[in-house]
Amino acid sequence: MTNIGVIGGAGYVGLVTGVGLAALGHKVISMDLDQSRIEMLRKGSSAVYEKGLEVILRGLIKKGQISFTENQLQAVRNSDVLFIAVGTPSLDDGAADLSAVIAVAEQLREMIDKYTVIVVKSTVPVGTTRIITEILAQKLTESEDFDVVSNPEFLREGEGLIDFFAPSRIVVGSSSTRALEALRTIYEPLLSGNVVVDVPWIDVDREIPYVETDVISAQLIKYASNAFLAARISFINEIAGISEKVGGTITDIVFGLGLDPRIGSSYLKPGIGFGGPCLDKDLRALIRIADENSYDSVMLAGVLKRNDLQLREVMNKITGTLGPNLYKKRITLLGIAFKEGTNDVRQSLSLRLYRLLRDQGALVVGHDLLAASETAEIEPNLVVTSDMNVALDGANAVVVLNAESAYSSFDWSSLISSEVLPYVIDTRGVVDVTMLSNCGITFDVLGSAE
Ligand code: UGA
Repeated sequence: MTNIGVIGGAGYVGLVTGVGLAALGHKVISMDLDQSRIEMLRKGSSAVYEKGLEVILRGLIKKGQISFTENQLQAVRNSDVLFIAVGTPSLDDGAADLSAVIAVAEQLREMIDKYTVIVVKSTVPVGTTRIITEILAQKLTESEDFDVVSNPEFLREGEGLIDFFAPSRIVVGSSSTRALEALRTIYEPLLSGNVVVDVPWIDVDREIPYVETDVISAQLIKYASNAFLAARISFINEIAGISEKVGGTITDIVFGLGLDPRIGSSYLKPGIGFGGPCLDKDLRALIRIADENSYDSVMLAGVLKRNDLQLREVMNKITGTLGPNLYKKRITLLGIAFKEGTNDVRQSLSLRLYRLLRDQGALVVGHDLLAASETAEIEPNLVVTSDMNVALDGANAVVVLNAESAYSSFDWSSLISSEVLPYVIDTRGVVDVTMLSNCGITFDVLGSAE
C-alpha cells in the first residue's frame, strides 16, 4: 500500500485516477482548489459524469481508502507519491498553458519534507518535467528529496473505468530507478491481476503491457497516440467527403477498409470532427513542439485543417437544404456533449455549430441526455432538453451530431402528423434511414450519396 496524493483530484483525469488507485488498495488523498467539487466528492457525488464511478467512489470513501481536501499541504505531507493531474489547456498559439503545473511545482518546492515521487499525469510538452525539476531543485535535491516521473493517461471519457482497470498499456518514464520501482509497486495489483472491481463490463482478466522508458519518450507516446487517433478521424472524414461527391456509401467503405487487419475498423467513424478537451489541444501542442524545434509537421497540420473544415461541411448541408437565410429557421441539434456517454461540453463542436447558427438568426434547440445543465453554464440561451419529442417539435432541420443510442432507436413515425416534417442531417450514420424514407422524411447522411 502506497500513500498517494492527487493534485487536481476533482477534474476528470484526477478523479478517475484517484478512485482507480484507491481501488488498487492504496491510500489516496485527493486535493483540488475547486471547493464545491471537493464538498460534493466528500459526499460521494461527482460533478464529472463517468459511468459506474460514483458507486466505486462511495464504497472507497466508506472504507477510508480515499479522502478529499482543498489543502495541498495536507495532501503533500501525507503522501509518498504525488500525481499531478491539473489542466493544461491550449493557449491562443496552440502551446499548452503550463501555468497550473508550474504553480503546483512552486508550491511543492516549499512543502515537500521527505523523499517524494512526483508523477506527471497531465499531458505536458517535452521539457516540462525539466522545468518542474528545476523549480523543485531551487530548494530540494533531485534523487534525495524527489524524483519526477511521466505517467501519461489514456482515459477515454465515458470509458474511463475500463481504461484504468483494463488499460491497453501503462507507460512510465523516468531516469530514476527508485521512482520507477515506486510506480511498479503502485500498479502491481493491476499487473498481477489482483484487483476486484465491482464493474461488470470490465474485463480485468488479461495481461497489461507495462512500458518503462525515458521521460521524453513517455510524453511523446501520449502525444503520438492522440495525434494518430485524430489522424484516423480526419482521414475518414476526408474519405467521407470524397465518397459523397462520387456517390459512395461511407458505412460500406469503412467496413471494407476495416477488414484489413492492419487498418481495423475501430475509431474510424466519420462525423462533425474530433471535439472534446484532448485531441485538438494535444495535436496543436505537438505541432507547436515540432515548430519550436524547426521541424515541419505537414501531416499533423493537415489533420487539424480537415477538422476545422469539417464543421463547414455540416453548415453547407444545412444551408443547402434550408437556403442561405437561416433567420427564424428552427434547427434541432441532437447531441450537445462532445461525444455520447458524457456530460462534457468542453470544446464541443456541437456548441461551435450552435454559435454559427445562432449568429445567423436560426432558432436552435438542443437535445442531450446528460449535458443540459453543463450547457446552461456556458450557453445559457441554448435550450437543451432530454425529451426527443420536445426537441423535434416544429423543427425545419435536425442534425444528428453524436452516436447516442436514443438517436438510432428513435421512432420517427411519431412525427408523421406534424405540420412540418424536418430535414434530417445525420453526421454519424446512426439513424434508421429506411424508417425515415417510409415516413416521407428527407435526409442526408454524411459520407453517402442520397
Ligand atoms: C481521447 C483519447 O481517445 C484517449 O485515449 C485519451 O486518453 C484522451 O483523449 C485524453 O487525452 O485524455 P476522449 O477525448 O475522451 O479521449 O474521446 P474520444 O473517444 O477519443 O473522442 C474524441 C472525439 O473524436 C469526439 O468528438 C468523438 O466524437 C470523435 N470521434 C471519435 C470521431 O469523430 N470518430 C471516431 O471514430 C472516434
